[in-house]
Amino acid sequence: MARKLFIAGNWKMNKTASEAAADVKRLVELLSGVGDKARVAVCPPFTALDRISSVARSAGMELGAQNLSDKASGAYTGEVSAQMLLDLGVTQVIVGHSERRQFYGENDSIVSKKAIFALASGLCPIVCVGETLEEREAGSTEKVLRTQISGSLDGISAEDMLRTTIAYEPVWAIGTGKTATPQQAQDAHAFIRSLLSAKYGETCAQKVIIQYGGSVKASNSKELMAMPDIDGALVGGASLDPAGFADLVKNAL
Ligand code: PGA
Repeated sequence: MARKLFIAGNWKMNKTASEAAADVKRLVELLSGVGDKARVAVCPPFTALDRISSVARSAGMELGAQNLSDKASGAYTGEVSAQMLLDLGVTQVIVGHSERRQFYGENDSIVSKKAIFALASGLCPIVCVGETLEEREAGSTEKVLRTQISGSLDGISAEDMLRTTIAYEPVWAIGTGKTATPQQAQDAHAFIRSLLSAKYGETCAQKVIIQYGGSVKASNSKELMAMPDIDGALVGGASLDPAGFADLVKNAL
């Protein structure tokens, strides 16, 4: 079953709104024409969403946020709601990134609440999972993925799963320059798809986009994306430079 390649740039806490606006303009020029072969999303900080929204969306690029609140509105200082994101043209939202799990105490139960809230509001979540180096070396990668997939997707229906993307991001490969080999990544993706199949049925599992994330760059995107269960990428560092990110996308096609 053909799953359309989906590559998202996660800019993390980088770029002012002005820098983001200039970079998106450049990216749109560099990526013109790839829209029928791949979906591309940019996920800037909240503060840049408004500034880049119309340029990105009019070029067919999807706009993503890096987090959202699991509450609708009210006295939650510092939080950003789904409705606020929708109002800016956001369609995708990253939830459960390992940096949120590691530095802000997000666990599977918070991740599933956020994903469910996103879906109920009309946003599409990109749910991140992945093992640490310690866990991989202890041979518990599959156990960790089983727990994270079951906990982070708890309460999500099969129908909503079709609007949900999974990002497999081994923590040891994020921002370290250490990429999982295509085979290591493929094995984890195939395992995640088997978990989805057990939970949602094979037809649904075959339709879910599973992105790989962790030191993806222009020089390795082709071999990673060539693997049968790798349907795209969630890219951090290498998405910051428009020319490098455009090359990464084009090499993956
Ligand atoms: P990286 O980050 O590409 O810089 O390794 C990936 C991510 O954290 O999404």
